[in-house]
Amino acid sequence: MSATGGSRTLTLPDIAARKGKTPLVCLTAYTTPIAKLVDEHCDVVLVGDSVGMVLHGMSSTIGVTIEMMMLHGKAVRRGLQNALMVVDMPFGSYEESPAQAFRNAALVMAETGAAALKLEGGESVAETIRFLTARGIPVMGHIGLTPQAVNAFGGYRVQGRGEDAERVLRDEMAVAEAGAFAVVLEKIPEVLARRITQEVAIPTIGIGASAACDGQILVVDDMLGLFGEFRPRFVKRYAELAAPAEAAIAAYANEVRERRFPALDHVFGDKPRGVSGGQVA
Ligand code: KIV
Repeated sequence: MSATGGSRTLTLPDIAARKGKTPLVCLTAYTTPIAKLVDEHCDVVLVGDSVGMVLHGMSSTIGVTIEMMMLHGKAVRRGLQNALMVVDMPFGSYEESPAQAFRNAALVMAETGAAALKLEGGESVAETIRFLTARGIPVMGHIGLTPQAVNAFGGYRVQGRGEDAERVLRDEMAVAEAGAFAVVLEKIPEVLARRITQEVAIPTIGIGASAACDGQILVVDDMLGLFGEFRPRFVKRYAELAAPAEAAIAAYANEVRERRFPALDHVFGDKPRGVSGGQVA
């Protein structure tokens, strides 16, 4: 069943109209095959800068480049027909000035065909969000735990507990007033996520921010259980694909070493199949 109930690509007004209604379903994707799998079931597909950690083995998202985002953005675009595609602006590509952000954002949009871009940060990026949205670049905000600021936060800690809630609230208001069409709330307490969701007019999309949000997002490799060791509390694993994948690789390795693969079925004969009875083709 398509997330739109048909084959139409979702638009920004469709997403905005879901505020307070059926929760928005969002996942990341970085490649065409995964984009094809998630497309029918998701409203928003994010080409997240988590690609650096998930596919490229980086220890944080800090080293992700605009070229990486464009390469993966183009790959994902080829796999989508239904979901709205959002691409992350990587660290260093938008913080310097609104003009720098516009230059890079225009490049990413033109190259990838993204419908919108995501920027991390609250009050500090509000001016840039206003600049971009006024010039036709839709922006999704991202507040709370913003992984590009992992060094400033001193780790991937829950944000907005106790008195810190006021700071996260100010970030939310700044992003919404600047014109973001939706906002990701990452790793904040449920009580704060609920308050923010009630107070802002734009949809909130939670990751580690409770079911009080207007939608949810997860990193697709996390929810598929493609990592053995990485198990953050906010991720529910809907499958455990790492173990069967490894078992299949081990079976292949054994069969190659024992000359059991390739077998007759996988081998070409001298003549096309069917020309001389049971001859392999
Ligand atoms: O980069 C990413 O995948 C993200 C989501 C986790 C929200 O920003």
